[in-house]
Amino acid sequence: MQVNTKKADIQNIDVPLVILGFFEEAKNDLMLKEIQDIIGDVVELGDFTGKESKTTIIYTKGTIPSKRVMLVGLGNEEKFSLETIRKVMGNISRKARDLDVKNIGVSLNHLMRNKFSVINTSEAIVQSLIMGSFQNLDYRTENLEKYKHLEKILVFSSDADESEMEEGVKSGQIIAESVNLCRKLAWGPANYINPTKLANEALRLEKFGIKIKVFDRDEAKKIGLTSFLAVAQGTEEPPKFIIMEYGANIENVDTVALIGKAITFDSGGITIKPGSGMERMKADMTGGAVVIATMEAVARLGINLHIIGIVPATDNMPSGKAYHPGDIIKSYSGHTIEVISTDAEGRMVLNDALTYAAKHYQPKAMFDFATLTGAMMVALGEHAIGYFSNHDFIVDKLEEASDRSGEKIWRMPLWEVYDQQLKSDVADMKHTGGRPGGAITAARFLSKFTMDVPWAHLDIAGVMEQEKDKDYNPKGSKGPAVRLIIDVLRNW
Ligand code: BES
Ligand code: MN
Ligand code: ZN
Repeated sequence: MQVNTKKADIQNIDVPLVILGFFEEAKNDLMLKEIQDIIGDVVELGDFTGKESKTTIIYTKGTIPSKRVMLVGLGNEEKFSLETIRKVMGNISRKARDLDVKNIGVSLNHLMRNKFSVINTSEAIVQSLIMGSFQNLDYRTENLEKYKHLEKILVFSSDADESEMEEGVKSGQIIAESVNLCRKLAWGPANYINPTKLANEALRLEKFGIKIKVFDRDEAKKIGLTSFLAVAQGTEEPPKFIIMEYGANIENVDTVALIGKAITFDSGGITIKPGSGMERMKADMTGGAVVIATMEAVARLGINLHIIGIVPATDNMPSGKAYHPGDIIKSYSGHTIEVISTDAEGRMVLNDALTYAAKHYQPKAMFDFATLTGAMMVALGEHAIGYFSNHDFIVDKLEEASDRSGEKIWRMPLWEVYDQQLKSDVADMKHTGGRPGGAITAARFLSKFTMDVPWAHLDIAGVMEQEKDKDYNPKGSKGPAVRLIIDVLRNW
């Protein structure tokens, strides 16, 4: 997407479609008066009311250089927020695209309303237009001409500071492109998006100055990443333990580690899953995709931190070599783990990654992202990420980032009493605790591997996908948690 800004008013803009936002009860909206000659009676006649995300197209007949104007409802003025802008612009992005206009202009003043800064508003506009119009045609060969594309966005205002507009649109574009990268990887099929492909995606980030190490099966074995390798044991597909490092030479800054579960296909292993819906487990590497996508954004935004990304990537498959229920695994941490269900593989790969991060980088904080439990999906549904944390300063950072970014999160309990469910008769711990509180016992299990580093675990199983187009999320992977964690890091 090509994104530009211009210091100009509507009389000096010439694009195929101009977007103007108005509040509900549009007739009382003061900004409407200024463009009365352009839009005529459409409001008087009640054809456009300003209800959220409702649109009306006006043909301007030479009153301004642009031939079409789209009036867009912003809903209730009191409830108007940056998230409203994101939702509305997300919906518009597909409408504009489907009109086959490749090039749109958005009036900044009609969205800023003296309520938000130039930077934040410009960022919200561009971010949601790029996120909302995302489509992945990589795996199609037929009728490609019927798919339309938005190609250019122009944000204009006659009085806003141009460098602020530029700053906002630039970060909006970077963040949205990272979300879209996450979606592309997360929703890609397991035969294309395998551990080797994820490693290559990480290696692509070398051009942004990120250092990459990739351990294959033999190297991981030498290091002792036993718990990770237990999951990888059953598959012919080469596993990769991927490490990315940004900001190694930035001095006097905190180190933050990001860890993402990347099960490129979760069949369940010997504890095999039912066949119906199993294809969705191609997305069980969403956590890894979040980390790779975030690393790219971090480098492009030039964030002033030292950031480590770790992505343990493998398929989870049944075979004659696969790990069994009942196996006892001595993990990289030294703790012994009794395997109960080979389908609880996420925590097996994550515990080694957490230990590796804590031991080798002594970070100030660690965050892990994982499509970890069906129980989390049951608890919170598709609208909020459930998270667990052992430290209040991380909780504060996440909650603030959630407010700013609009990604909903909800803190879950991490009480010690749940450890009772993880007691093993034969090893230091079992790795599952049965159905009750399944998301919590999973988090308790992970908490044993943090080596006292302040940490948060974000279970993104519930929010990983969306069944139909909604606001800035088209059907498919949401690219969850990317905007949230980028916000945490930018405001560290
Ligand atoms: N990847 C799944 C969790 C999942 C389920 C994510 C549905 C997204 C949608 C995970 O590896 C898993 O299988 N978890 C088990 C754990 C159980 C065996 C303790 C689950 O949730 O049933
Ligand atoms: Mn599983
Ligand atoms: Zn899984």
